Amino acid sequence: MADARPFHWEYNPEPVAREVFRIEGGRPLSGSVAISGSKNAALKMLAAATLTGERCRFTNVPEIEDVRVMAETLRDLGVVVDHPAANTYEVASGDVEWLFVPLEAAAKMRASFMLLGPLLSRFGRVIISNPGGDRIGRRPVDLHVDAMRSLGAEIEYRNGYYFATAPGRLRGTEVRFPFVSVMGTENALLAATLADGQTVIRPAAQEPEVDDLIAFLQKMGAEVARTYPDTIEIHGRRRLRGADHSVIPDRIEAGTFVVAGAVTGGRVTLSGAPCDHLAAFVEVVGRAGVGISCGRDTIEVDGTGIDDPGFRACDIQTAPYPGLATDLQPPTSVLLTQAHGVSNVHEAVFEDRLEWLGELNRMGARAELQDDHHASITGRTPLQGAEVEIGDLRAGASLMLAALAAEGTTTIHGAHHVHRGYENIERKFLDLGARIERLAEGTDSTTS
Ligand code: EPU
Repeated sequence: MADARPFHWEYNPEPVAREVFRIEGGRPLSGSVAISGSKNAALKMLAAATLTGERCRFTNVPEIEDVRVMAETLRDLGVVVDHPAANTYEVASGDVEWLFVPLEAAAKMRASFMLLGPLLSRFGRVIISNPGGDRIGRRPVDLHVDAMRSLGAEIEYRNGYYFATAPGRLRGTEVRFPFVSVMGTENALLAATLADGQTVIRPAAQEPEVDDLIAFLQKMGAEVARTYPDTIEIHGRRRLRGADHSVIPDRIEAGTFVVAGAVTGGRVTLSGAPCDHLAAFVEVVGRAGVGISCGRDTIEVDGTGIDDPGFRACDIQTAPYPGLATDLQPPTSVLLTQAHGVSNVHEAVFEDRLEWLGELNRMGARAELQDDHHASITGRTPLQGAEVEIGDLRAGASLMLAALAAEGTTTIHGAHHVHRGYENIERKFLDLGARIERLAEGTDSTTS
């Protein structure tokens, strides 16, 4: 049995190893980069593996901090998680001894809340901490909790924890969301696979990561299908079996490298890139005048037109899939600093996801925040090296992009945020010809 975990009032977060990126910009990137497996697909599959006592095997799992946190959280529950080779994880959830997901996990990563649905459905009870995650808006979990209640769960909230039980078994039902939620959909989906009877989820998120999760569940023997674009139907089963699955490539990482090629005026080829999952983003990038072409699983980016004829301003609006991903708004905003004219940015999914533009302005950008959801970016402005601070994962990667495009040296504090979600990012940039170092905060010693 794992040690008892502290409740909220006893919790002191472990200090993170503070690191900085130091980037000397102004060099066109060129060459080829391999895209890693999707963070937001892999995390949900690791959670889904607790739906069965049999072994599940995942390949193409990204080597990132969030995956390590999820593996550690599972081990604390008594789940066996092996990591036999790079990018491969095996999960066997025969004996889950400790149906308690502590604040330590939740404070590090919102996706820890993905354990609610599967543990509740399989074991009939779980105590789970209210999650933290990135500082991008309020990000409540009310939709997840309401979905579990509609499936018959009894849930009380006390002292920062949800105490959830499913008397008997969860019961299939119609889960109606007031608006689309990715993890809300996924939590309801996982819970419904072992519920009694039929569940219909509507509107269901259409993100490719949700479909990858469905593909894995089908291999486990779950009876689940997307019957309309916004509808998922599940017929609950008594048991599921172990399965093997290779995680889809990360479309957000791919979009980040597209912008890297464009804003440095370089030429970059992405291999293993999910072009089909990036249609809205590719449309924007093309509209801005960046050369971009998609093959079956490659994307070629040609940013050499950055000076002549130059990139064009574009208005963008984020939306649930198939719209432009909110996770690609920060990289796209960096691209728009290098486009001529005024671009309007409407961040429709999260409030607070435009605040990082203040850091971008310290590098010479002209971004103006109108309100929590709207900003305008006036370009083209030359970017210069500066000292900036990362507040969350996607803004962090985007400040790296700005630094690669900037003249001079940029020091980016809070590098650990980027390691949550990007595999080996500095290695990948180095291989494309970037000058980048990762240093321990306050020292000159390299750590990579
Ligand atoms: N929302 C609620 N109540 C809820 C759940 C969501 O009000 O119970 C709101 C959110 O505050 C937000 C909107 O609904 O305004 C949509 O949020 P959604 O639930 O779709 O987001 P999520 O499932 O928490 C996932 C990704 C995010 C990504 C969003 C949107 C994972 C682990 N996270 O979050 O990824 O931005 O979908 O696509 O899958 C990232 O990878 O950096 C990241 C933040």
